[in-house]
Amino acid sequence: MEDGDGIRIRPMTEDDYDAVIALWRATEGIGLSAADERGAIAAFLARNPGLSRVALRGDTLVAAVMSGHDGRRGFLHHLAVVPSERGRGLGRRLAEGCLDDLRALGIGKVNIFVYADNAAGQAFWRATGWVGREDLLQMQRVLIEDSAPAGDCGPGC
Ligand SMILES: CC(C)(COP(=O)(O)OP(=O)(O)OC[C@H]1O[C@@H](n2cnc3c(N)ncnc32)[C@H](O)[C@@H]1OP(=O)(O)O)[C@@H](O)C(=O)NCCC(=O)NCCS
Repeated sequence: MEDGDGIRIRPMTEDDYDAVIALWRATEGIGLSAADERGAIAAFLARNPGLSRVALRGDTLVAAVMSGHDGRRGFLHHLAVVPSERGRGLGRRLAEGCLDDLRALGIGKVNIFVYADNAAGQAFWRATGWVGREDLLQMQRVLIEDSAPAGDCGPGC
């Protein structure tokens, strides 16, 4: 459904992959890895049906976010809005729509991963109600070597 600005938001599908990965590759603050390859994204969408979203102006994809949960907590990944569409509430609308769906599924808390040096991204999340957990440190173990070069892999990947 289109809003008054001509933007249509709908669930992300496997067929959006080429446009979505192009957007993420062009967006600062988004780190990509093997977990963002076509098959991995298709698997994520299948495990979390209807929860991830894209925004389109006409036929052009202008924003995207992945959303899912593990049965306990929700997770948003890779929220990106093209520069020409920023500052008009689109990022907030995309994220809030995902949160509405997760809340309706009984998910009580949602987590995000933001690069420590992504000040603009952090400012967006804080402006939209998110709170940093200063008492927590993210830790990780590698189980299968990733094809992404060291340092080219975003938080949460
Ligand atoms: C972060 C991003 C998604 C925001 O999208 P957007 O559509 O411009 O954001 P909105 O217009 O919905 O802004 C919502 C609120 O955040 C604030 N905000 C957005 N970007 C901000 C920035 N760079 N600095 C400070 N505040 C910001 C807005 O002022 C607004 O607050 P308000 O309603 O109180 O005025 C977009 O800038 C982007 O794609 N950035 C690069 C990728 C990224 O960093 N993603 C998030 C990290 S995972």
